[in-house]
Amino acid sequence: GIKIVTIGGGSSYTPELMEGFIKRYESLPLSEIWLVDIPEGREKLETVGKMAQRMWDASPYDVTIHLSLDRREALKDADFVTTQFRVGLLDARIKDERIPLSHGFLGQETNGPGGIFKALRTIPVLLNIVEDMKELCPNAWLINFTNPSGMVTDAIVRYGKWDKVLGLCNVPVNSLINEPEMLNVKEGELTHHFAGLNHFHWHRVKDAQGNDVTEQLNKKLVKDASSLPSNIFDVSFFEEQLQQMNLIPCGYHKYYYRAEEMLEHALKEYHDPEIGTRAEQVRQTEKELFELYKDEHLDHKPEQLSKRGGTHYSDVACETIASIASNKNTHVVVSTVNNGAVPDLAPEDVVEVSAYINATGAQPIAFGSLHPAERGWLQVMKNMELCVEAAAVTGDYGLLLQAFIINPLIQSGETAKQVMNELLIAHKAYLPQF
Ligand code: NAD
Ligand code: G6P
Ligand code: MN
Ligand code: MN
Repeated sequence: GIKIVTIGGGSSYTPELMEGFIKRYESLPLSEIWLVDIPEGREKLETVGKMAQRMWDASPYDVTIHLSLDRREALKDADFVTTQFRVGLLDARIKDERIPLSHGFLGQETNGPGGIFKALRTIPVLLNIVEDMKELCPNAWLINFTNPSGMVTDAIVRYGKWDKVLGLCNVPVNSLINEPEMLNVKEGELTHHFAGLNHFHWHRVKDAQGNDVTEQLNKKLVKDASSLPSNIFDVSFFEEQLQQMNLIPCGYHKYYYRAEEMLEHALKEYHDPEIGTRAEQVRQTEKELFELYKDEHLDHKPEQLSKRGGTHYSDVACETIASIASNKNTHVVVSTVNNGAVPDLAPEDVVEVSAYINATGAQPIAFGSLHPAERGWLQVMKNMELCVEAAAVTGDYGLLLQAFIINPLIQSGETAKQVMNELLIAHKAYLPQF
């Protein structure tokens, strides 16, 4: 049987993951599931671990959940290691979002200043996990969900020298699910083709006859937010811009294409004590979720989990694992080594692309060069990521400052430097490299 180890097992997303494995058990027979956390997460781990066990007990399958605070004990002989942890917990995210906003900047916990600091905290931990894997489960696949998913996956390959890794995100799958509905066709009839970076990809779509329906979908996208994750404010894209690019941007592009309005919305929520930043809204949702998970009668994923931005993540994670395990060649959008699929970026860069997944990992599908408007953004963003990763590994202050100056969500200048310094102090305990 297959042994799965999930690091950050105390996450409120764990029932989502269990649901995905239960649904696919016939094609992916698991023998062991280990949920790993740290002492600070013990209570969450125990609550969600019992909930996960109830879900399996209510299924026809006999699977035991092992809970552990000892990562090395859990990793021994694993086949798949999935990661879904948050270094510094939600308190750190609150700082990532509030400190920039207190100076009038977007925090954005995956690709703004918040995301840069999340990468600085996360990359050293992931590189340690990889070192443990080299010793304890050298044949395992690492399926990373921890954000910023693209940057940390790149760092695992580039600095960890570990190739058996795929980075995941739930944003693409929302389009795969909703777009057939938007065009009134059956799921599976459309062909989707994605390319770019995590939280910075575009895609095009063809119908069953091979006609490009991207423009048709973009016209609906201006009014229809069904594919937009619940954490992203719905200011609509400019119709003329969508028409010009003839690609479908992802929801996170709103932060770049409508930066003024996104900042205005974030500031409004930040200044309203009844609402607060997204991190503070998530704290409330999480409290509600854990109350539900404590209910000994609950044995299925509750509806309330869809308030989180990561819905459908288990579909991606479980599909990816099942495709590797049974060499299925399924289309999944993953962060993986480019290898020429996106010629505007280096072959060794990790990109987020459509790929066929099989026993050898991801086979990225060639997308071709982008036009100048998209190419310009993409190259800026990738090189910003590379500065962050190098700073995470070396603790180089000047390089971190460069990343802040390059990042389009951060206005360069004295204030940016001050935000950076405040974040360095606030997160000191989780930044041993600085
Ligand atoms: P969370 O705050 O609930 O954290 C999950 C668990 O990680 C906690 O129980 C915590 O104790 C544990 N943890 C912290 N540091 C750890 C360490 N060093 N080792 C092991 N466990 C550790 O987080 P969440 O809201 O469930 O999100 C988990 C992660 O998934 C985050 O990184 C988040 O950004 C990411 N995420 C990714 C996507 C995506 O599309 N890729 C979507 C949603 C969430
Ligand atoms: C999705 C993204 C994740 C992101 C999350 C935030 O948009 O794909 O990568 O981190 O949702 O959701 P939350 O509910 O934590 O704000
Ligand atoms: Mn994501
Ligand atoms: Mn909002």
